[in-house]
Amino acid sequence: MSPTSRAASRPDVGVLLPAGGRGERVGAGPLKQFRAIAGVPMLLRAVRPFATHPRVREIVVALPDEYVAAPPDWLAGRLGGRLKLVAGGPTRAASVRRALDALDPACVVVLVHDAARPFVSVAEIDAVITAVDGGVGALAAIPVSDTLKRSDDGRLVAGTAPRTGLWRALTPQGFPRAVLEAAYRAADAHPDATDDAALVEATGAPVVLVPGRTTNLKVTTAEDFVLAEALART
Ligand code: CTP
Ligand code: MG
Repeated sequence: MSPTSRAASRPDVGVLLPAGGRGERVGAGPLKQFRAIAGVPMLLRAVRPFATHPRVREIVVALPDEYVAAPPDWLAGRLGGRLKLVAGGPTRAASVRRALDALDPACVVVLVHDAARPFVSVAEIDAVITAVDGGVGALAAIPVSDTLKRSDDGRLVAGTAPRTGLWRALTPQGFPRAVLEAAYRAADAHPDATDDAALVEATGAPVVLVPGRTTNLKVTTAEDFVLAEALART
């Protein structure tokens, strides 16, 4: 059954949106996740495809503390209904954990999606949900296409790493809720994990790759905002 046809029986998907970072690599200016891309705040772009998805029951956004009590108007106006806010933590994993703790218990499938990926597609969301409906964890991913160099000092090349079998991990990532909860109970043992799938992999639970899109860009630097502006206008 497709994610949409199954929705008729029950909206059972919860979405966690970690947006609790400070965007330090972007530099000065408005908070990264609130910054507009072609007039629409990045966080709002990241939320919208989930907010209109028929399988989604609830979206929990983790924000830096001070914005939970005083969210911007474009966000405050969308609260209630399917959208709620929680205070994030000092790390991305801590923010995800707080959002997971606040999620409606009726959500048995959990997706995690970075607020810093404003161009997520419905196709990626559906592919992740379909895999999770089959009982496994899943993440949107893209095969590595660049040749990979290793350098110890950032200048002299020390070697070339084979890229065969390597994939870039994007979000959304999705999991049966019990699987993600078990992974987060053990998360303190894996402080270097940079995504949710890595925590789930560490428990031994299966995680599969589903097709991601290159347009599902991660906005990290000021230069990425230039790319994002261009993408938003295509
Ligand atoms: N994030 C979070 N809580 C944190 C840190 C990060 O919820 N304590 C979120 C960010 O808001 C972002 C996602 O995790 O949506 C990926 O993080 P990243 O792109 O690194 O954003 P920032 O941490 O904000 O940026 P930087 O590392 O440059 O400070
Ligand atoms: Mg960060």
